[in-house]
Amino acid sequence: MQSIVVRGGRKLSGEVIIDGAKNSALPLIAATLLAEKGCSRLDNVPDLRDINTIVRLLEGMGAVVSRQGGSLEITTSAVENCQAPYELVKTMRASILVLGPLMARFGEARVSLPGGCAIGARPVNLHIKGLEMMGARISVEHGYIIGQAERLQGADISFDVTTVTGTENLMMAAVLADGVTILRNAAREPEIVDLAAFLRKMGAQIEGDGTHTITITGVEKLLAADYQVMPDRIEAGTFMVAAGISDGDVVIKNAPLAAMAAVVTKLQEIGLLIEPLSPEEDDDELYKENKLLAGVAVRVRRGLDGLKALDVRTMPYPGFPTDMQSQAMVLLTLAEGTSVISETIFENRFMHVFELQRMGADIEVEGRTAIVRGVVALSGAPVMASDLRASAGLVLAGLAAEGETVMSRVYHLDRGYAGFEKKLKALGADVKRVRD
Ligand code: EPZ
Repeated sequence: MQSIVVRGGRKLSGEVIIDGAKNSALPLIAATLLAEKGCSRLDNVPDLRDINTIVRLLEGMGAVVSRQGGSLEITTSAVENCQAPYELVKTMRASILVLGPLMARFGEARVSLPGGCAIGARPVNLHIKGLEMMGARISVEHGYIIGQAERLQGADISFDVTTVTGTENLMMAAVLADGVTILRNAAREPEIVDLAAFLRKMGAQIEGDGTHTITITGVEKLLAADYQVMPDRIEAGTFMVAAGISDGDVVIKNAPLAAMAAVVTKLQEIGLLIEPLSPEEDDDELYKENKLLAGVAVRVRRGLDGLKALDVRTMPYPGFPTDMQSQAMVLLTLAEGTSVISETIFENRFMHVFELQRMGADIEVEGRTAIVRGVVALSGAPVMASDLRASAGLVLAGLAAEGETVMSRVYHLDRGYAGFEKKLKALGADVKRVRD
């Protein structure tokens, strides 16, 4: 096991480059299963444990995957084993994303039911209901989702709850279905827009991605295509908080600013100065046809008025993302006044609170609401990571805390952040990874 050791008090400065988005790369890799022939090349793929897991999943099905730096080359023409085993799925719930592509191209799938995780039960009932509406026969046996279909049929599907991977799974199921599929109350996340753009390059007919109603007209087959993963808006938001909480001055490059309006607005209201660099100063822009998905450079500092308490309510996109809730909370533990944080997406996403309390934060939890009263300072302490974004929040708290913070169970962090402590160290933080 490994831990991250942070000694607080350093003001971060310098430049950091944001990686490709984990939550876009995962559905994009799953979507390569839809290609009947050819080799898909994905660029700007982050080097993460979750990416390695889904690559192993595809290789187990018979896909051929090669990795050169930030690029993956994936050939799925020889895939014949339509299974996603428990051993892999239990380590990464997003493995459920292979269900739609397997049902679309092969008419069969055997995918382990992803269990819940620390932040909630995380059911996939809406994924299954949508496939059944498209004519799939689905049974759940011994912890596995077993799917069968001659050819999926287009259907008019309305989601009871807005679900990101549910929208992605059914969009991928619909691209080869017979007829038109309409997804209503669909998720609008930028990662869904990224996936739709890749599917269109493969030959799919999709309209309305990024809105609540997506219309997919099925085609006979899809071919491999090349695509570049959009930058990670949650990693970018995490580094914005790192700059603010350390009272630093950081340039964040390849931040998908257009996809982060709610995060930028909220952090500015708390007291951060977030200013895009001019195009002349930004020599590294990650170009994307759709400007919503492009990466630009932005300078982040703490404003002269310090940090001000503010209420935060997590919502589906374009609202404030639940994946930034722990990071925002950490910032608010040092803000002047009382903040109310409402976590509306997941039922148990406050595990970081108990660790922050041990660092001197003044937080009270009542169900899905946390009351955060600002304190003058946090103090370093041994803490334990519980899930991916909570672990990022605890490291951020360590940056500002007096003394040393040791965060155990670093594997949570490695699922979604590539070289997090290395990037922080390059910005001047006193941080290192140690073996327990
Ligand atoms: C995606 O998870 C992200 N993961 C999560 O990021 C993110 O927190 C979440 O969306 C919300 O934005 C990936 O994209 C790989 P949901 P997902 O389905 O799709 C309920 C991270 O840290 N629901 O949008 O699993 C569900 O219980 C991760 O990178 C059903 O009831 O989330 C939840 O309350 C954490 N039935 C709500 O919908 C279903 O069939 C939203 O979940 C599906 C979902």
